[in-house]
Amino acid sequence: MITEKSPILDKLLNDYNQKWDHSGVSGERLARRLSELAEIGLTDEHGSYRIGFSKEERMAKNLVKKWMAEAGLQVYDDGAGNVFGRLAGRTPALPAVLSGSHVDSVPNGGHFDGPLGVLAALEVAEAWKETDFQPNKPYEVVIFTDEEGARFNGGLSGSSAFTGAMDIGQEVHRVDYEGKSFQQVIEEDGLTLEGIQKAKRDMEKLHAYIEVHIEQGKRLEKENMPVGVVTGIAGPSWLRIQFHGEAGHAGNTPMDDRRDALAAAGEFISEVPFLPKRVSSTAVATVGKLTVHPNGINVIPGRVELFVDIRDISQESLDALTQSVIQKAEEIAGRHSIMLECEQTLNVSPMPVDETLQQVIAAAVRQSGLDPVFLTSGAGHDAMVVGRRIPSAMIFVRSKDGISHNPAEWTTLEDCAAAVHVLKNTLESLTD
Ligand code: GLV
Ligand code: MN
Ligand code: MN
Repeated sequence: MITEKSPILDKLLNDYNQKWDHSGVSGERLARRLSELAEIGLTDEHGSYRIGFSKEERMAKNLVKKWMAEAGLQVYDDGAGNVFGRLAGRTPALPAVLSGSHVDSVPNGGHFDGPLGVLAALEVAEAWKETDFQPNKPYEVVIFTDEEGARFNGGLSGSSAFTGAMDIGQEVHRVDYEGKSFQQVIEEDGLTLEGIQKAKRDMEKLHAYIEVHIEQGKRLEKENMPVGVVTGIAGPSWLRIQFHGEAGHAGNTPMDDRRDALAAAGEFISEVPFLPKRVSSTAVATVGKLTVHPNGINVIPGRVELFVDIRDISQESLDALTQSVIQKAEEIAGRHSIMLECEQTLNVSPMPVDETLQQVIAAAVRQSGLDPVFLTSGAGHDAMVVGRRIPSAMIFVRSKDGISHNPAEWTTLEDCAAAVHVLKNTLESLTD
């Protein structure tokens, strides 16, 4: 998969006017690090392939650990493979402030989704080191394991283990695309089931979590602002739906004597885009993953497995849309004499962001000479898991054309560096 040198460094540096290179923040250091991470799991389409619990995710974590140590942070990891770089506070007994994100990606994803949040958090520690600033409260840069869920159709694994929200009894039944069990995969990554269960952190010792992340939408572009304050995060509900028909000879089986799983699944897929707007104007639903069995040219499809990703900002409409997707699948399967199996592989409630923290970030935005734009997140993030246990908030950074989960994902270095300053101002206020 690793084909060539990172394509992003020159492009990042070429457009950069060093406007934000002050108070210890270095745009070039951030660009070099984004670029070095991009080389790990680089695809031939110049995208990122660092699936959760893969050797590429592990390599990316190890590289960041090296940088954390060089920045003078005390580096450690927990039983879920979450990585922490801790800076002692002037008052070490106070609860710590955390900031970070993830370094895993979706298949052939972009280079900013996740890494920017981790490296922005690290850049703040670098800036403090350069300016001899020590926060009053302890500060930790964090990398959460397997946020995207590309391997086990779940995700948010590290943050769930960290907050004690992981249901290990459900996880052990998961099987990846190579047929490997959850236990086998984590053991190959140097982890154990016992270790994951012990990853739960004492939340009393944590003050707040702040995550910088690319917007993955077009709102900030429209507002012509580099950063924004997130007010709420939509919850994802993921359904694994299997259509069980009957495989048969494509030449010899008459058209009215078939139970074609793909014909039923295809009808269902074409109905899904019409369901969200019946529930709410912000709801969305996507079929993005599908496998046909046995997948032969001259064989009537006997079984189709597909996944529906459903999201909305309100729990009520998320539940209503999940039910209407299931009903539609049942109705179509019934018409085709197909047996249906349906299982929810991920169910996270939408999360309103802590209002006090929103105001702290808004003040930090103004302190950087910018106007705060308030916006919601359609994508899921570790902050929505951590935010159930400790006050958490997010700083969004402008995405070019709103493109994400795509090698073309792009954010200028100027916007990335602006976000570092907003994060730095936020953290200086929170760690005080
Ligand atoms: C993570 O990117 C998600 O929202 O699926
Ligand atoms: Mn993502
Ligand atoms: Mn992400």
